[in-house]
Amino acid sequence: MMLVHEELLREFQDFALIAPTPESVMERIAQRLHEKMTRYNWVGFYVIDPVDPGVLLVGPFVGSFTPNARIPLSTGLCGAAASSGQVVVVHDVSKDPRYLAGSPLVKCEIVVPIFVKNKLAAEFDIESYFASTFTKPEQDFVEACAAIVGKYLGKG
Ligand code: SME
Repeated sequence: MMLVHEELLREFQDFALIAPTPESVMERIAQRLHEKMTRYNWVGFYVIDPVDPGVLLVGPFVGSFTPNARIPLSTGLCGAAASSGQVVVVHDVSKDPRYLAGSPLVKCEIVVPIFVKNKLAAEFDIESYFASTFTKPEQDFVEACAAIVGKYLGKG
């Protein structure tokens, strides 16, 4: 893992120890990744709608475009990750028919499901204006960030 990854993970783990709410952990991660990782151009979270578990609602995010606020689990890469329970990495979104556009600038995306007590609670979604940003080391880092949120949610 790259030094910047290690430093950010340590920062997020330390913050999660004293964070007042799950949203504050999500906000910190979104803010700092958008700031420090040049190719992470939209960084945000989706949470399962407490009223309708078949829908994802946008949570804390940082990025230059307005996201899809509500995503049914049957739609988009976010829906695919939620429905499959698997990480979705798409190196070129123009080649993936599942992709739900947020901005025409987006070239690639990663979506990491976040489980709490084996139940899907949220997702970590990062979109990049550069193709093939999410190499395996980057994916491992993003999954580690998502795990910090999952651990915090599980404390509640
Ligand atoms: N590209 C995502 C939608 C995310 S929001 O617009 C940031 C998808 O395909 O589900």
